[in-house]
Amino acid sequence: MMVANTYEEDRAGRESGHIKSFVRRLGRMSAAQTRYLDMMMPKIGVPYVQQTLDLDALFARSDAKKIFEIGCGMGETTARIAAAHPENDYLGVEVHTPGVGSLCKLIAEQELANLRIIQHDAVEVVRDMLPDASLDGIHIFFPDPWHKKRHNKRRLIQSPFVAQLARRLKSGGYLHCATDWEEYAAQMQETLAAEPLLHNTADGYAPRPEYRPLTKFEQRGLRLGHGVWDLVFRRL
Ligand SMILES: C[S@@+](CC[C@H](N)C(=O)[O-])C[C@H]1O[C@@H](n2cnc3c(N)ncnc32)[C@H](O)[C@@H]1O
Repeated sequence: MMVANTYEEDRAGRESGHIKSFVRRLGRMSAAQTRYLDMMMPKIGVPYVQQTLDLDALFARSDAKKIFEIGCGMGETTARIAAAHPENDYLGVEVHTPGVGSLCKLIAEQELANLRIIQHDAVEVVRDMLPDASLDGIHIFFPDPWHKKRHNKRRLIQSPFVAQLARRLKSGGYLHCATDWEEYAAQMQETLAAEPLLHNTADGYAPRPEYRPLTKFEQRGLRLGHGVWDLVFRRL
C-alpha cells in the first residue's frame, strides 16, 4: 500500500485525537460495487454518529449474539461467517469504499439479514457508538501490519484501544485477532496479555477457530510456508 502524505495524515490524526490506522486510498470502484453500494447502504448501512447504538434495536432482535468486525476488506470472510451463522448478528466496519461496495454485493446476493456496515474509522465507532458490555465477540482479521518501524504507531492493536475494546465486550465475550506478520503477532500477544480485563483462551497463540474460514491469500501463504497466528482472548 502506498503511504502518501504521512505528515499530513499524522497531523490530521493528531488534530482528531489519534493517528489513523489507514490511509485514504482512491481505489477504483467497479460498476457492480457502485451499484450495490448505492442500492444497499440505505438499507444496511449504519451512519456514523456521536451517539451510542442500541444493537438489539438495530437488528430487531435481542436473543442473537452481537459480533463486531474491524476492517472487513472486500468482505468475503465477513459474508461467509454471517451466512454460516444466521443465529448471530454481525456489525462490520470498513473505511475503503470499494470494499464496502463489494460487501454490499455479497449481502444482496446472499440475502444476508444479519449483517450491517458502518463506513467509518473503527476507532471512532468504538469510542462513540458502542456501549460498554454490548458485544459477544470482536473480529480483527489481518489488520494492516504497518511493518516499517516508523509506521508501527499506526497499528490498530495498541493498549489504549485494546482497553476500550475489552470494555465493550460482555463478560465472557471474545476478542479474536489474526495476522500473518510474526512481529505484529508478538506485539498483539504482549498487548492483549497486558490488558487486565482479558485472559488468553490458549497457551500462547490459539488454534484457528472453525468459524474463521481460510482466505485464498492465506491458503497460498500456507503453501509457501508462511505462518498465520490467531489470538483469542476473553473478557473476565
Ligand atoms: C489488510 S486488510 C484485511 C481485510 C480483511 N479483514 C481480510 O482479512 O482480508 C485491513 C483492512 O482494514 C481496514 N481498516 C484499517 N484501519 C481501519 C479503521 N480504523 N477503521 C475501519 N477499517 C480500517 C482497511 O481499509 C483494510 O481494508
